Amino acid sequence: MGFDTIIRNGTIVTATDTYAADVAITNGQIVAVGKELPIDNATKILDAKGCIVIPGGIDVHTHLDMPFGGTTSADDFETGTRAAAFGGTTTLIDFAIQYKGQTLRHAFDTWMKKADGKAVADYAFHCIITELGETQLAEMGDLVREGVSSFKLFMAYPGVFMLDDATIFRAMLQAAKFGGMICMHAENGGAIDVLVQRALAEGKTAPKYHALTRPTTAEGEATSRAIALAEMAGAPVYIVHLSCNDALEKVREARDRGLPAYAETCPQYLHLSLENMDVPGFEGAKYVFTPPLREKWNQEKLWQGLARDTLQVVSTDHCPFCFKEQKELGKDDFTKIPNGGPGVEHRLSLIYSGGVHGGKFSANRFVQLVSTTPAKLFGLYPRKGTIAVGSDADIVIFDPNAEQIISAKTHHMRVDYSMFEGMRVKGVTKTVLSRGRVIIDDGKFTGRAGAGEFLRRQTYSGAS
Ligand code: URP
Ligand code: ZN
Ligand code: ZN
Repeated sequence: MGFDTIIRNGTIVTATDTYAADVAITNGQIVAVGKELPIDNATKILDAKGCIVIPGGIDVHTHLDMPFGGTTSADDFETGTRAAAFGGTTTLIDFAIQYKGQTLRHAFDTWMKKADGKAVADYAFHCIITELGETQLAEMGDLVREGVSSFKLFMAYPGVFMLDDATIFRAMLQAAKFGGMICMHAENGGAIDVLVQRALAEGKTAPKYHALTRPTTAEGEATSRAIALAEMAGAPVYIVHLSCNDALEKVREARDRGLPAYAETCPQYLHLSLENMDVPGFEGAKYVFTPPLREKWNQEKLWQGLARDTLQVVSTDHCPFCFKEQKELGKDDFTKIPNGGPGVEHRLSLIYSGGVHGGKFSANRFVQLVSTTPAKLFGLYPRKGTIAVGSDADIVIFDPNAEQIISAKTHHMRVDYSMFEGMRVKGVTKTVLSRGRVIIDDGKFTGRAGAGEFLRRQTYSGAS
């Protein structure tokens, strides 16, 4: 019997184990894992000597081709999934947005069309709900059945995305009924809006006022409220882009009480801080995203949160806007700067470098944070998120000792700056397989637009 592909000489790292073995792939799936698998009839042999062989990264928080702040995020489903692949991410969960007056179905159809024929790797959707009448309440069940088993709600952005507590609670009750997960943007949008209006009235229009008008207390309060509402509704809740210790403490308390409360953070909150916004002129706009960057001491708390399982996932919240022409929309008023930053490409390197080489956690925990737990929490496991017989052959050959300097000059995201410009990271993606096809071959793109498939996700069943 022959195999389509064999990966030899590597060290397999999963969320639980580290061992030397080969991986055999046929028809896009892993068919054998073992010592010295027979290579005679293998069509392709990949040498992973000196590398770790890990499950493809899963980024559960991206915004591709997303209209926002008077413009559209700069990466579409082709450029975004391609950049993700360069960095070892083989599955994205993006957001289909329901605008007021629309059905959830319309949102899902719209985003399916955006991705169709473009994605180079697999993708799925959460649905953002901005208005919830009887029609949309009923549709939540339909969407869960069709594989859109999580919903993002906003406690911020009044007048655009923000929902009141009653609507949030109704959505949570419905999610609990159908096995859906609620993803929450937890910031107190009402209080923030007052601070924003006051800053503008005082003539404070520079980018750093975006951060200074969004205090950590506003994130902590909303995180606590989201958890309380979810507890009353009996729903699981997942706090997205958690940025600070105030919010982290609320998640820790909830988890200590045994609640199904989860949270992700993102590389920007682990590697950057408010100090990055103390730059001349308009440069700080590169770091205008929500929640904003925090005082530096929060970084260590977040790394600890990842190590101690207060935080379960690292995603990117990739929402790229070019500095020229897009960020510049807010040159005279920070509230007009499109919110978001680019990051889908460097998540694995930034977390391996800071987390594993930085002595914060093991390589197994790294795999758990960037691949396995995302798959489990969002209904993709064991098809995705591990290296096991029967799983999709989404595999990354990752050189843990290679170094790279991150730069907009060399990255593959369709955006004219990097938030991490000049940062040296240790741990680099070399070769990437998506359902058995090599899409990055020793740093070169060999994939194809349209090869990525929509993934119907299972209902919520916990993280273990
Ligand atoms: O600034 C951000 N985070 N932009 C994307 C939208 C969101 O809130 O996740
Ligand atoms: Zn958000
Ligand atoms: Zn986001």
